[in-house]
Amino acid sequence: MTRLAGKSALITGAARGIGRAFAEAYVREGARVAIADIEFDRAREAAVTLGDAAIAVEIDVSDQASIDRAVQDTIKAFGQIDILINNAAVFTAAPIVEISRADYDRVFDINVAGTLFTLQSVAWHMIERGQGGKIINMASQAGRRGEPLVAVYCASKAAVISLTQSAGLNLIRHGINVNAIAPGVVDGEHWDDVDAFFAKYEGKAPGQKKEEVGQAVPFGRMGVAKDLTGMAVFLASDEANYVVAQCYNVDGGQWMS
Ligand SMILES: NC(=O)c1ccc[n+]([C@@H]2O[C@H](COP(=O)([O-])OP(=O)(O)OC[C@H]3O[C@@H](n4cnc5c(N)ncnc54)[C@H](O)[C@@H]3O)[C@@H](O)[C@H]2O)c1
Repeated sequence: MTRLAGKSALITGAARGIGRAFAEAYVREGARVAIADIEFDRAREAAVTLGDAAIAVEIDVSDQASIDRAVQDTIKAFGQIDILINNAAVFTAAPIVEISRADYDRVFDINVAGTLFTLQSVAWHMIERGQGGKIINMASQAGRRGEPLVAVYCASKAAVISLTQSAGLNLIRHGINVNAIAPGVVDGEHWDDVDAFFAKYEGKAPGQKKEEVGQAVPFGRMGVAKDLTGMAVFLASDEANYVVAQCYNVDGGQWMS
């Protein structure tokens, strides 16, 4: 299918995991994609596998100059950005009394400020171009509620949901739809790290936390990146023109809101 034919997308954190699956799905749907990541070598490798429709772009979403450069590089390569996915993020976990100021700042700089200021940089371009656009922010079920060991990451994803609502309401007058996706537990390198955190803080065996969370999903297993691509394609397509400032759970039935 070619639901995104003629469109150009910038996807942050797309060198691996969910972002990489989004890039693959978008290319299959006819879009050109900038795979933007702080891990530039992996981004390049991902772009090469996707062929001529993909380019690699270096970005550190916690650095304004790097955001602006990546946005300009993408516009230079494609002439336009129609779709942005704010996907780059980092995870952290610690009991409340062990949270450090430095780790809080790092997570909020990447997950929250990174989302807001990449959105802002691309929104400027979309407004100037005058043809609207689609912006998708990656939230999480972690943003729907707190967790005893995951305060900072949960708060960062709650902030992403809130920013999606405000930006969605502010930018729809320019024909820019801002929405979010809240995944549940999605297997991959990210969850290898999460599993290691829980092994440290709850004394679990390696792999045990993954097994437990998978069993708790009503669908019956952890998600995989491909489970999310349908929603990411829909929200980027013209079929989502009337969808404004929403956050969709794609989590096998874990959360209802
Ligand atoms: N995997 C899950 O279970 C899950 C669940 C809910 C939400 N999410 C969200 O989905 C998104 C993708 O998750 P994933 O599992 O693919 O994560 P991942 O850790 O596998 O990939 C994240 C990517 O972001 C990049 N990145 C990190 N810091 C960056 C920075 N400062 N600038 C640019 N790039 C940076 C990394 O290099 C990596 O390629 C994230 O926003 C995550 O919070 C994931």
